[in-house]
Amino acid sequence: MNPVLILLSVVVLSLSACAQVERAEITSDRDEETAGARLYAQYCSVCHGNHGRGGVGVPLALEDFLESVSNQYIERTIRLGRPGRVMPAFPRLTDQEVQAITEYVRSFHWADEPLFSSEPVEGDPELGGKLFIAFCARCHGANGEGGEGTGVSFSRPTFIPILAPALNNAGYLASASDQVIKRSLALGRERTPMRSLSAMGLSEQNIDDLVSYIRSFQTLSADRAAIKRPVDAVLVQQSPHSYEQTIERIRQAVVNSGHSVVREELLGEGIVDPGEGERKQYVVYFGSLQIISDGLAHDPRMGLFLPGKITIVEHAGVVKVLASNPEQYTALFNNIALSDFAAMLHGIYLAIFKEATS
Ligand code: HEC
Ligand code: HEC
Repeated sequence: MNPVLILLSVVVLSLSACAQVERAEITSDRDEETAGARLYAQYCSVCHGNHGRGGVGVPLALEDFLESVSNQYIERTIRLGRPGRVMPAFPRLTDQEVQAITEYVRSFHWADEPLFSSEPVEGDPELGGKLFIAFCARCHGANGEGGEGTGVSFSRPTFIPILAPALNNAGYLASASDQVIKRSLALGRERTPMRSLSAMGLSEQNIDDLVSYIRSFQTLSADRAAIKRPVDAVLVQQSPHSYEQTIERIRQAVVNSGHSVVREELLGEGIVDPGEGERKQYVVYFGSLQIISDGLAHDPRMGLFLPGKITIVEHAGVVKVLASNPEQYTALFNNIALSDFAAMLHGIYLAIFKEATS
């Protein structure tokens, strides 16, 4: 099987249906059968690995990580995610569920939650900016935008074991207090590319300056924070043409939009609903090499939307064209690249619908 398809099915299966597999794994390990472990297996392990060993998501079982962050940081990270990055937001989990997951993550390392003062850190963001360019930008990006690629993406160099997180991210900045950032810098994360700045010889003042600089990203990122707007799950347009004409017009509009029809499928023609007459259903799949290779090069999950699929139905004398809106899925991913791609596909559907039904 093509590696793209394999990766894709892994992601899709894991994200949707493998809760049961994960559960089976956990039940074989009796002492971990807590609510937190089950929820972690269901929602987090696909990216952060079993027992927090890491994967597409950073490892969570690191001692230095758990020593650097408060429970509030973990809870907020789960709630808010990292808009525009791979880490999703989980707004629908209850407070108890979020706490249970946090406790489970905490249990990766024996120690209790570390204590943090609530004092803001006072540093010089300008000096911090200079240090940032000198010591941090090569991994975290010139503007703290994080490592390139979306994690699962082929655009991510495989020799980098862990993608540097985005620091200019609204989700990160809203989750991390000054003291959490400060301790993350001082300790670093052993067994990751992130080194301890104290061990590198930077002074406490240097670290404070860096914290103030990272904090100054907040104003920049406020307007980037993803504002979720509700999207229609299904795109529908009534056609003034006959069923057969509409199919032909869809084919034509697909070609005019720069794509080609890759497959067609007759679904249930001639099914008769009592009292409502005949129902006819036909599916046209479309795509283009360009769109498929661009999409997949960026992230294999783009394959969720490819090829495009348009259904033409005639029911009770009314002809309609329908497609599921790719934008409804990307809301789950919290990833700007995926969202942009889905928005573009949405636009293509609307253009094809408009032309075919005008
Ligand atoms: C060699 C690459 C590299 C360099 C250089 C580097 N980092 Fe990191 N940084 C990482 C990686 C990778 C992680 C994620 C580690 C983990 O938790 O698994 C990270 C984590 C962090 C975190 C925690 C973020 C989060 O979401 O938990 C902060 C804050 C941070 N780095 C700041 C800095 C600063 C400031 C500098 C410069 C002084 C710097 N880093 C230099 C790679 C790097
Ligand atoms: C689709 C993949 C994915 C899923 C699912 C996911 N995460 Fe993440 N998570 C990531 C990535 C990637 C990052 C790093 C953020 C970045 O790149 O800017 C991250 C970051 C984090 C961080 C911050 C780590 C640090 O070093 O500060 C925590 C905590 C976290 N995730 C917890 C969770 C928990 C708990 C769940 C389940 C409720 C979860 N994540 C689900 C991908 C994921």
